[in-house]
Amino acid sequence: MEKSVKYAEGYGKVNPSDDETTTVPYKSPSRRRRTTAITICLSAIIIAAIIGATVVHHQRTKPSESEQSSSIKSSNSIKTVCAVTQHPDSCFTSISAINSGNVVDPEMIFNLTLRLAVDEFANISSLPKTLISKSNDLRTGSALRDCATLFDDALSQLSRSVEAMRVGPEAVVLTKGKVADLMTWISAAMTNQQTCVDGLEEMGSTAVDEVKLRVQRSTEYMSNSLAILSNMDSILDRFGLHLH
Ligand SMILES: *[C@@H]1O[C@H](CO)[C@@H](O)[C@H](O)[C@H]1NC(C)=O
Ligand SMILES: *[C@@H]1O[C@H](CO)[C@@H](O)[C@H](O)[C@H]1NC(C)=O
Repeated sequence: MEKSVKYAEGYGKVNPSDDETTTVPYKSPSRRRRTTAITICLSAIIIAAIIGATVVHHQRTKPSESEQSSSIKSSNSIKTVCAVTQHPDSCFTSISAINSGNVVDPEMIFNLTLRLAVDEFANISSLPKTLISKSNDLRTGSALRDCATLFDDALSQLSRSVEAMRVGPEAVVLTKGKVADLMTWISAAMTNQQTCVDGLEEMGSTAVDEVKLRVQRSTEYMSNSLAILSNMDSILDRFGLHLH
């Protein structure tokens, strides 16, 4: 604002000397001064309006530009992390769908895959119990009861993993020891799911196809989480970071 006023003053000073050299109808000095003052005022208003418009325009475009570049950065990070998984495309798609904060940190990207795995498994965790109530085949019933136990255990392994990732804002998220623990818990959950499917298959249960179908996505998410954890050292390396 101050700058624009100074600029307008400089602008205004040009006019009086012009007036003196060119032949213009006589103006009394006081009228001329008033005209000059009005010119200065108008110039100041116009320049201020132009500068104001420019500033507002900048404030509107700047955040969306940086938002865009941070979302591109985030997409690239997710692609880099997902490249170590067996299903890089679906890894990328599923994480992007829940990536509200434009994460770039590999540890945070892992945390999103864990959230996907936990949410998906929580959705199917009561499946064995539901199937038990529908089944009147004794052999299937016993295999499903095993499944119910295995699923309960898997859910608690996953909950431990989520707890381990719940740290304060300034705290270290992952250590070598924590990565090892997370891998143990998540693979236990994954093994439990598979053991359930194997048991149903052994019993020749008719429920096996439905269970196989329903655990597919949760198996995929867990396998993504595990792949990321087991490659965490080299992933962090690519980001110029390292494990604590
Ligand atoms: C839970 O599973 C059911 C059956 O597959 C599905 O229709 C539903 O969308 C799932 N809900 C969530 C939150 O994933
Ligand atoms: C990981 O995600 C959970 C929600 O799923 C959140 O409570 C936790 O704070 C996150 N951990 C980090 C280190 O951001």
